[in-house]
Amino acid sequence: MLENYNAGNVIEVADSVFWIGSNDRETDKFEGLWTLPMGVAYNSYLIRGEKNVLIDTVKSSFMDDFLCRLAALLDGKPLDYVIVNHMEPDHSGSIDIIRRLYPGVEFVGNAKTAEMMKNFYGVRDRVIAVKDGESLDFGGHKLVFAFAPMVHWPESMVSYEPNLKILFSNDIFGGFGALEGGVFDDEVNFDWTVRETMRYYVNIVGRYAKPASKALEKVRSLDISLICPAHGPIWRKDIEKIIGLYEKWSRHETDRGAVVVYGSMYGNTKAAADAISRSMSVEGVNPIQVHDISRSNMSFVTTDIWRYSGLVLACCTYNMELYPPMAGLLRLLENKGMTGRHIGLCGTYSWASAALREMSEFVDRSGGGWTLVEPKIEIKSHPGEADLEQCGLLGRNMAEAIGKK
Ligand code: FEO
Repeated sequence: MLENYNAGNVIEVADSVFWIGSNDRETDKFEGLWTLPMGVAYNSYLIRGEKNVLIDTVKSSFMDDFLCRLAALLDGKPLDYVIVNHMEPDHSGSIDIIRRLYPGVEFVGNAKTAEMMKNFYGVRDRVIAVKDGESLDFGGHKLVFAFAPMVHWPESMVSYEPNLKILFSNDIFGGFGALEGGVFDDEVNFDWTVRETMRYYVNIVGRYAKPASKALEKVRSLDISLICPAHGPIWRKDIEKIIGLYEKWSRHETDRGAVVVYGSMYGNTKAAADAISRSMSVEGVNPIQVHDISRSNMSFVTTDIWRYSGLVLACCTYNMELYPPMAGLLRLLENKGMTGRHIGLCGTYSWASAALREMSEFVDRSGGGWTLVEPKIEIKSHPGEADLEQCGLLGRNMAEAIGKK
């Protein structure tokens, strides 16, 4: 074992290929938006050999452990190349310090990477721009580069080591959650990992579902024994399952079930949401996920909406407009291009109706993308008996539309 400060967490994932990433249990929200209850890992890999090749780096505020592991593995030998699969700073954040510590290093990316290297870190030379499908031989290890534009940025690419059949997939197949001892998929809880991988996909990559499908076609053409992503565990056992799930998510294929999202200031709209939920449950809909839009982190709300075939929005009016947290959700759903599910609407107001109108406009703007389930409900102040009957009817119709368990 290496005798170096914190070098003990070097993990050999394949012959002469080492995980040297960092676990972040301190950042509250990824990209300042998406909550991280169990942290996140920034995976970096070193291929050690005739030439020493680093695959991606880590976020700058978590470089200490990473640099110690890198130095321990190199043991005084030079770092020759850094493969820059993606320039988002959770992966490129240590580039500047790497080039200062290892002045002979060359960076490998593409033309778009080179432009971003200049803009982010002032790197103007020692950048090799490869073409899509090009390969480089590093003496004993070859890497083939496949562009994956918009998964997640325009310069994104993946690297494939054909001898060991390893795909370094960067954001693709990556998930939230720090590595908690388990580094491979068969060492961690599969269901939890899939949930956090889906939450990463929906919120980080989801807008680019079509480019993701194209990238998956390239992945399908490869013979893979190990997927080494830039977040989450390394896939060695359930490679086929995670590729299949990614294909399903990128096709917007849903599971049977419903999500109810409500925005309520004093509980009146919540009462309507609860009545609709109960009605769906009585009709056999299962699962039903209910979110209070003022409290649930948006990343869980969007992930559930992505997953299930039915959505009910119940929301109050606020200052003659749709309640702001719900307006934020609708904007996010449009940004992600999420449609193709059944939707029910319930708006409330006391003196100036706006919520139902704005939510209806959201559905109309989709041009038939969302399938509206009747009745559209509008409630003044507090749901009375007639309103609750309408809620029951909406629940029954939604159950009918999405099919029962
Ligand atoms: Fe994990 Fe797009 O960065």
